Amino acid sequence: MRILVTGATGNVGREVVAQLVAEGADVRALSRSPRAVVPVDLAVGDLAIPTSLEPALSDVDAVFLVWPLHNADAAREVLDVIAKQVPKVVYLGSGGVVGFGPPEQIQLLRESGLRWTYVQPSTFAVNALWWTAQIRAGDVVRGAYGDLALPMLHEKDIAAVSVRALLDDGHDSAIYPLTGPEVLSQAEQVRLIGEALGRDVRWQEIPRADARAQMLADGFPESFVDVLLDAYEQMEPVAVTTTVAEVTGRPALTFRQWARDHAAAFG
Ligand SMILES: NC(=O)c1ccc[n+]([C@@H]2O[C@H](COP(=O)([O-])OP(=O)(O)OC[C@H]3O[C@@H](n4cnc5c(N)ncnc54)[C@H](OP(=O)(O)O)[C@@H]3O)[C@@H](O)[C@H]2O)c1
Repeated sequence: MRILVTGATGNVGREVVAQLVAEGADVRALSRSPRAVVPVDLAVGDLAIPTSLEPALSDVDAVFLVWPLHNADAAREVLDVIAKQVPKVVYLGSGGVVGFGPPEQIQLLRESGLRWTYVQPSTFAVNALWWTAQIRAGDVVRGAYGDLALPMLHEKDIAAVSVRALLDDGHDSAIYPLTGPEVLSQAEQVRLIGEALGRDVRWQEIPRADARAQMLADGFPESFVDVLLDAYEQMEPVAVTTTVAEVTGRPALTFRQWARDHAAAFG
């Protein structure tokens, strides 16, 4: 099996590459940069330029496809290019794009002619790295919506489910809603990061306008900060799913585990 992993330099794709390699698969990693450092063959291509993917797709049996772009037309073109050379795609869904959410993404897959699996993740635990600067600087994380409770999902679990769908039969036309094993408020997440560091780190609630200023000071772009805070304000409770356990045969990883895995980043 030769697998092309897109987003291979990112949080999820890096894990997909590592887990595929551990299973003995022949892996090719896509990046826009010819200087990207990856532990497997590197192919250069840009999802925004669908034809640039053609060389990367030669002799490939399945593609792990992330979609970092806010553009449905490009996604259709990319799926067309893939379908000319490859039989199967595992698509990592994203919820944040207006007019191109999970229903539209799934519809594109249905029309693609490919064998497909749709992996639909909840909020990534790795988003907690956004607090790195504050936790390095002290024992308080200042932010808004500290009570917002989300089932934070470990990137290793997204990868583990994706790897099963890439390597095994029996996942065609499956839609896999993934969550972490428990719903945790932002304040609880901060406390668990502190626990992993052996420190008493706590959440301090501040008004949205101040949280916005804090995020801008931490280096996040204005467009991202406003979309994120709007999403937090409007977010409906997300129910925990058991899909990770059903697909991989082991329970989803906890946020406590995630914090231990990433403690060095906050130290
Ligand atoms: N954070 C969340 O809570 C959440 C929830 C649901 C879905 N998602 C989605 O999950 C996806 C993966 O997340 P992540 O954290 O692993 O991403 P990440 O760490 O931010 O990395 C993004 C990856 O996308 C690649 N990429 C970006 N633009 C590209 C382009 N035009 N052509 C080819 N590759 C491109 C980058 O590769 P190079 O820079 O090497 O080219 C990089 O490997 C994201 O697209 C996001 O929309 C995130």
